[in-house]
Amino acid sequence: MDRTPTQQLAAPGEGSATLPQGLIGHVPQHVAVIMDGNGRWANARGLPRTEGHRAGELALMDTVAGAVEAGVKYISMYAFSTENWKRSPAEVSFLMGYSRDVIRKHTDRLNDWGVRVRWVGRRPRLWKSVLKELRTAEEKTKHNTKTELLLCINYGGRAEIADAARDLAQEVADGKRKASSIREADIASHLYAADVPDVDLLIRTSGESRISNFLLWQLAYAELDFVPVPWPEFGREELWERLQAFQDRDRRFGGAIDAVGEDQAPTS
Ligand code: IPE
Ligand code: IPE
Ligand code: MG
Repeated sequence: MDRTPTQQLAAPGEGSATLPQGLIGHVPQHVAVIMDGNGRWANARGLPRTEGHRAGELALMDTVAGAVEAGVKYISMYAFSTENWKRSPAEVSFLMGYSRDVIRKHTDRLNDWGVRVRWVGRRPRLWKSVLKELRTAEEKTKHNTKTELLLCINYGGRAEIADAARDLAQEVADGKRKASSIREADIASHLYAADVPDVDLLIRTSGESRISNFLLWQLAYAELDFVPVPWPEFGREELWERLQAFQDRDRRFGGAIDAVGEDQAPTS
């Protein structure tokens, strides 16, 4: 379906599509989305890449509406990676400016929907004006409890783990903890949004089957779902379809399927 940001955006529960009954009370807690394929979507239509990013705005808002309606507690959206600075200066400027404008334009709407907005990423290089809008959105929406929207802007999974390692090293240097006592939980508690649970379901649009440095720590046991549609054609109905498919996944977290009654640990 071709869509543009000027088309009508429906609030959660007010779209023309009906939430599948089977999803009620049975959705993953944390969904992460790699919004990919804007450039190819635009190129296929003879448009500049930036028009693809513009078309992605409605996809983003419609997907968030779908997450709210379905009762997804956390939705992480990858909007700009620490590697995306490698793109042309014109595209980088567009993406920074457009992110700022999109956040400003939709903060009140997200607030009305009961969404708490949080920024996840690194400070260096991020435009001050983008950070300012993110902080305003965080402040305005901080009491909302329905769904948390984690906007990953200037985010990199390796950078996040390196930042956590640096903080821990500093604590050791300051005599606040012993290096020998560092556990997985200590790394986890030093991540950017440390209170957010691990990702249950990762969706990447546009047919690429890679992670591209997204939430490396939090994806350890996530179910991965690579879908062929380009990001501008994604929305609440496509999200619900993926949430339904997730219900058929058999998650084991390293355990055995028939472990019932076999919880005796081997002795040697
Ligand atoms: C995703 O679409 C948006 C961002 C990375 C910001 P792309 O711009 O990567 O589009 P493709 O992958 O080149 O089609
Ligand atoms: C990942 O997409 C980053 C975002 C969607 C923000 P990219 O398009 O940057 O990833 P690669 O370069 O194809 O791996
Ligand atoms: Mg891409």
